Amino acid sequence: MEKLKHLFQPLKIGSMEVKNRVVMPAMGMGFGIDEDGCVNPQLTEFYVERARGRPGMMTVGGAAVDPMGLITPRGMEVLWDDKVIPAFQEMVRAVHKYDVKFGIQLLHAGLQSYFEQPVGPSEHSPLPKFTYSAATTVKTSPRGMSVGEVKECVKAFGSAAERCVKAGFDFLEVNAGHGYLINQFLTPYFNKRTDEYGGSYENRIRFLLEVIREIRGRIGNEIPVGVRINGDDFLGEDGWTLRDACRLTPILEKEGVNYLNVSAGTYDTGHISLMSMYRDQGAIVYLAEEVKKHVSIPVMAVGRIKNPIMADEIIKEGKADLVGMGRAHLADPEIVEKARKGEIADIRLCLGCARGCIDRGGGARYSHKLRCESKSRSGVLHKGDTRREEIRCQERLGCRRRACGIRGCQTGSLCRTQGCIV
Ligand SMILES: Cc1cc2nc3c(=O)[nH]c(=O)nc-3n(C[C@H](O)[C@H](O)[C@H](O)COP(=O)(O)O)c2cc1C
Ligand code: SF4
Repeated sequence: MEKLKHLFQPLKIGSMEVKNRVVMPAMGMGFGIDEDGCVNPQLTEFYVERARGRPGMMTVGGAAVDPMGLITPRGMEVLWDDKVIPAFQEMVRAVHKYDVKFGIQLLHAGLQSYFEQPVGPSEHSPLPKFTYSAATTVKTSPRGMSVGEVKECVKAFGSAAERCVKAGFDFLEVNAGHGYLINQFLTPYFNKRTDEYGGSYENRIRFLLEVIREIRGRIGNEIPVGVRINGDDFLGEDGWTLRDACRLTPILEKEGVNYLNVSAGTYDTGHISLMSMYRDQGAIVYLAEEVKKHVSIPVMAVGRIKNPIMADEIIKEGKADLVGMGRAHLADPEIVEKARKGEIADIRLCLGCARGCIDRGGGARYSHKLRCESKSRSGVLHKGDTRREEIRCQERLGCRRRACGIRGCQTGSLCRTQGCIV
């Protein structure tokens, strides 16, 4: 579609050629992992359904690099054992039929974990408590990691990266944002250490730099490595700020990082990582835009970007090189294909209701399975699910009031996209 020509431009990321600028970012689905930690055909089918729409890149995960890195006891991809490789290989083969670059995110939850005694940079870290994820996942204050444990963890990221290469993934992404372990080291709010991993800025970024060097040491330049960072923790001056991010990113570029994925928020400020309908679309794109001024590697913007027209404008205006469209892919697996064909009005938009994908009726601690409330084919249909063909909007009244009455809405539940913003 002529109008969306910026979105459908190819891009080089390291040695990887990406067909267009749309990225399905990492989203932990909470299903599709067998008892032995291997991904199963249900999860593969979920990604294949989205690959058919042909976004430029799709990211699995976050996948735990170490058993203590799990967020939840079930439903999270794991990367600490070779036995997970064959199932990942099958998944990668299935997705590659659609000419999509398929990557995986490496994650250690740190204190944002379900464990009775999680680990973190230091035992005095304040506990996140203000959001749903925090309240349903985190139980107790972490145990501060010893220097030996930090070094082991660095190695765990390296071994995990090797397994990803063996599995055939096209790229890796290290999660250094959203309040998970690496972000906890970066952020003075969580990191109260007094050794070489705490205190000064140089010390707080050390863990991340060691992780990047370890990964590069293990996999060389075989595939691109990206890093998801917080443009801002939104924890005030004690947290990681945009100023910190702009100082870090040129360092990451020098370390050989191939792209940056700029998000925001921790479990304390998760309403920014996962913005609801009450936030403006693209409200944190400005973070990517600012970071982009400091580096020459590709930068991804994310956060309630659900309309391809807006995504195209972000690229056109040079605010970012890539756009992460997460929940937009849950709501409509065909979003990119429809955009390509110019069938914008047929896209089923993410409503930003935060019900099916985030509040899963029990919280992350219980690992309830994901579904999308706006979508009849979320790809996550469970046995006996009678809602298969229903299209529901939990915020129907709000939706009608704010958009449908003006623009027209199908059966009072879904808003069409001609500028309709819910
Ligand atoms: C169900 C769900 C799980 C998520 N899991 C992860 C994750 O494991 N790692 C991560 O970096 N971001 C995760 N995210 C955040 C997304 O990558 C993305 O940044 C966020 O959804 C905002 O983008 P969106 O408004 O386009 O959905 C998750 C989001 C959702 C909805
Ligand atoms: S459940 Fe709601 S917020 Fe989540 S993807 Fe579906 S419409 Fe979007």
